[in-house]
Amino acid sequence: MMSSTDPSAAAARFGGRHAARLASAPVLVAPSILSADFARLGDECRAALAAGGDLLHVDVMDGHFVPNLSMGPAVCAAVHAAIPEAALDVHLMVTDPAMYVEPFAKAGASHITFHAEVVPDPLPLVERIRGLGMSAGLAINPNTPAEVLFPWLGSVDLALVMSVHPGFSGQSFIAAVLPKVRALRERAGPGLRIQMDGGVAPDSAPACRAHGCDLLVAASAIFGKRDYASAIQSLRA
Ligand code: DX5
Ligand code: ZN
Repeated sequence: MMSSTDPSAAAARFGGRHAARLASAPVLVAPSILSADFARLGDECRAALAAGGDLLHVDVMDGHFVPNLSMGPAVCAAVHAAIPEAALDVHLMVTDPAMYVEPFAKAGASHITFHAEVVPDPLPLVERIRGLGMSAGLAINPNTPAEVLFPWLGSVDLALVMSVHPGFSGQSFIAAVLPKVRALRERAGPGLRIQMDGGVAPDSAPACRAHGCDLLVAASAIFGKRDYASAIQSLRA
């Protein structure tokens, strides 16, 4: 019986109802739809999944936690209705994530990550997210130390290390965050999904994997390319 605070069980829980399929892949690639052609969003999502994307990363911005606006539950619900079999990884870059947990559960999200910078005690929110059938992740910005996540590694299903200052796709990878991934991997052991998000591309992906990251998010390195399949393969290889 896996306890909810057993780090070795975390990877097995990641993705909610899609967890069994996702747990079998050693490295997952999540195309971030922030760089998709929004006028053709359904086709773009189907193409990214057909090209080998394991799940879709949905970037949610409130114009307060980050200096940009992106998409909300209605967009998530539209993607879910169009592609019900897709695992939807929602990244809340918002000041008040608790406000959006239920709306995104209703919109078909399978996972929700929120930021440690705005939720000093994440456990109640983690439990609420799990209670709605989703898995829960905790994120840190480039300037937030890895130690902030240490107390919660046994209580979450994913740790997200931002490798750009959140708000926009297409920024350059900040290699200085890599030691934080190594520290988290050493601390958590092999059972926790560690996600890297921002500037992940064929030139930065090998270092991410080498430092212990096993879930790579990429927007411009996939949707900015002509051949999504080779773009995804070059991140995983
Ligand atoms: C940044 C978002 C990222 C973004 C990544 O604030 O959280 O998920 O879409 O974009 P790329 O891969 O282009 O850096
Ligand atoms: Zn993101």
